Amino acid sequence: GKSGYDHYMLKEIHEQPTALRQGLSGRLDELSGRVTVEELDDVGTPETVHFVACGTSYHAALYGVELFREAGIPAQAFIASEYATGPAPVPENGLVIGVTQSGETADTLAALREAAGRGAETLALTNVVGSTVARECDHVMYIRSGPEIGVAASKTFSSQLTSLNLLVESLAGGATGDSRELVSALRDLPGDIQQVLDETTAEAVVDEYLGDDAFFFIGRGQNFPVALEGALKFKEITYEHAEGFAAGELKHGPLALVTARTPVFAVVTGNDERARKTIGNVKEVEARDAPVVAVTDGQSDVERYADHVLSIPETHPRTAPMLANVQLQLVSYHMADRLGRSIDKPRNLAKSVTVE
Ligand code: M6R
Repeated sequence: GKSGYDHYMLKEIHEQPTALRQGLSGRLDELSGRVTVEELDDVGTPETVHFVACGTSYHAALYGVELFREAGIPAQAFIASEYATGPAPVPENGLVIGVTQSGETADTLAALREAAGRGAETLALTNVVGSTVARECDHVMYIRSGPEIGVAASKTFSSQLTSLNLLVESLAGGATGDSRELVSALRDLPGDIQQVLDETTAEAVVDEYLGDDAFFFIGRGQNFPVALEGALKFKEITYEHAEGFAAGELKHGPLALVTARTPVFAVVTGNDERARKTIGNVKEVEARDAPVVAVTDGQSDVERYADHVLSIPETHPRTAPMLANVQLQLVSYHMADRLGRSIDKPRNLAKSVTVE
């Protein structure tokens, strides 16, 4: 059942600390800073990686791309339905990774079959033991999120991002100082998410923007997939118009849509060059009178330009996007709830899409 929550989605949002502990269990060694994923013991370091996925899982794949690139391995993410009809050639020793919570998404299965047919090695990152993807791929890693009932993916996205860190460390990482920091950030992640859940002000923030025209989400780097995911979740369960943009793309067109009735959710974590540039983009929307909600760890001065702040604890650059995502999940949930939407079963959608 829903264990006292009004919706499965809210229950699953609150299950994230537990889901992530399950996913991390036995896979982190804090002393050495090493990650071990038993299922991946027989997978070598790939020379290049293609991800194929749909929807939320595609956003997870975009996050995975950057992890591989940081590890020195060229990687690309493809929308599975596009890859299935004209896959990019996979070079020798290339690995094609299908990211799919259900393991049954027809588009993703078709892309993987196409890749396998061309001789690529395939790996499934999935939640469902014994699913079609798990049976068909050469290798499988489980995200161990536990069953997800809500049509809108919530905890499984967090589990995918966490698992991608483990996957990349295990295939391409080393026991360096950097790895140790990541391992300790991953260990702290369930507690950090709990803190976001306990202290969020998302419900009060959405009340300010009921009835507005459209909702935009912006981010840069690892916060770009989070912006895309924030917008997908928002449109899926609120039925309101929402779009996610790379923060730097706004001025190349979308800025024309920005008014005093289009709140912009800006994900800004850390205080590096990327954060500073995104703050520049925040100033651009502010100058067009758009309300700004900053989702931030407080390291930069983005709060100065924001009407509201959704705070997350300070953490590692790889885990910060996951904490920001939890705030955006709550934004979508509370807006949908205020609008009386069918949150667990949005119109026109199914939990797993088994047609191409
Ligand atoms: O089961 P999969 O991860 O393959 O599903 C892919 C998409 O259909 C799925 O993520 C969809 O976008 C969700 N409903 C988003 O909340």
